[in-house]
Amino acid sequence: MSTRTATAIANSNIAFIKYWGNRDESLRLAANGSISMNLDGLETRTHVTFDESLQGDLLTLNGQQVRGAGLQRVSVFLDEVRRLAKTAQYARVESQNNFPSGAGIASSAAAFSALAMASSRAAGLALNEAELSRLARRGSGSACRSIPGGFVEWRAGARDEDSFGVSIAPPDHWDLSDCILIVSSAAKATSSTEGHRLAGSSPLQVSRLADAPRRLDICRNAILQRDFAALAQVVELDSNWMHAVMMTSSPPLFYWQEATLTAMREVIVARKAGLPVCYTVDAGPNVHVLCERSEEDQAVARLAKLPGVQEVRVAHVGGPARTVEP
Ligand code: DP6
Repeated sequence: MSTRTATAIANSNIAFIKYWGNRDESLRLAANGSISMNLDGLETRTHVTFDESLQGDLLTLNGQQVRGAGLQRVSVFLDEVRRLAKTAQYARVESQNNFPSGAGIASSAAAFSALAMASSRAAGLALNEAELSRLARRGSGSACRSIPGGFVEWRAGARDEDSFGVSIAPPDHWDLSDCILIVSSAAKATSSTEGHRLAGSSPLQVSRLADAPRRLDICRNAILQRDFAALAQVVELDSNWMHAVMMTSSPPLFYWQEATLTAMREVIVARKAGLPVCYTVDAGPNVHVLCERSEEDQAVARLAKLPGVQEVRVAHVGGPARTVEP
């Protein structure tokens, strides 16, 4: 009987220029490129064992057995690993998030980048960074950006082979902080996967996509030049534009809650008062407030007391996904 194992750790990431909508859903080929920052310390650790005695794939998350749609998504992902490795063996996947699950912090990016790295290694594949990123993308689009380190651009590409994340600057390039204002820990009613499907039904998606190369250029340059004012402007525009698409889809999606808007307004007020901060919001109600680390204490002190903010979680720029000893 043969068993093959590997363990990997990957960080979550926060998108500065968002991925919203696919040109090919099954391959997760994004309709537009995106740029993100890895979040140090918000990580998933995944241990994978391929075992010929298994009758099906098994998944545990934080010690709890997962069945149904969650297991199915992982199994479909593992089918791709099995195809690449030319094996039929099922796998046992044990995953742990070091942040409270249900805290409303997106976890699919960390989950599928750790799974891509651990499962491919356990299956005997030696994939390079681009190949790992492409594989992670098949599980969750944003996961392809958690394979490389630091600030990462996902060049949308036109096909599987050219759609993957590349690092545009290492973690120590710019000491940014992401102060995550947790306003709700409830699971979201509409998943990102369902949301991507609706993006094309918004009349605003065409203009959002047409302008994406310009926003990507501004964002990339702002990162390379450590120009916070330029970054702040394009990050808020991009987040607002994605939420405008969501709100004008059929059916419309509203991810914001009252506290989300209150926090966004306060970020603008704080910036006008001289504190260099900006906000970005993913497919959920929590508000990510970006600033340079020198401003972090002031930002947290000001925002933590806002009505509806339950907790503030701070993350800095994280490194690449990595394999570790079990
Ligand atoms: C709003 O990567 O979670 O966070 O590919 O269906 O897993 P799936 O979607 P996902 O979408 C992320 C959406 C976003 C923006 C972003 O991270 O770029």
